[in-house]
Amino acid sequence: MKSILIISGPNLNLLGDREPEVYGSETLDDHIARATSAAKALGFSITHTQSNHEGEIIDAIHAARDTCSAVLINAGAFTHTSWAIHDALKTFDGPVVEVHLSNPAAREPFRHLSVIAPAADGAIAGFGGLGYELAVEAIAKLLAD
Ligand code: DQA
Repeated sequence: MKSILIISGPNLNLLGDREPEVYGSETLDDHIARATSAAKALGFSITHTQSNHEGEIIDAIHAARDTCSAVLINAGAFTHTSWAIHDALKTFDGPVVEVHLSNPAAREPFRHLSVIAPAADGAIAGFGGLGYELAVEAIAKLLAD
């Protein structure tokens, strides 16, 4: 069974508690469960890693080069700063989809730039947990083409 790696960046471990007016009341486990059931219906498995540390995220991307068919990444605030995560994603051969719960383009100016976007096939933002399901569906279609 092909595996999709979901990477969750800094502070996403606090979802549910963290600014629920922005990020909703669902926890990270809720989002991963939703992605997992969408993946299962399409014949994929999910591996998930959450880290508050940039280097650990880069290591997870490197490990996925040999073990996973696609990467779904919500890099949290590293989205706006981490050229190192950008470079790591460039080394990954399969589809990469960027996900955000909120719509960064409608928020503070510092969130308008994603430095990982140029290393992704596309992005889904602003749909809360639905974004994880949509991203899994996009990945399944990209892998089928
Ligand atoms: C986020 C948006 C980022 O700007 C922010 O730093 C996050 C969460 C989102 O899912 O909406 O931590 O990636």
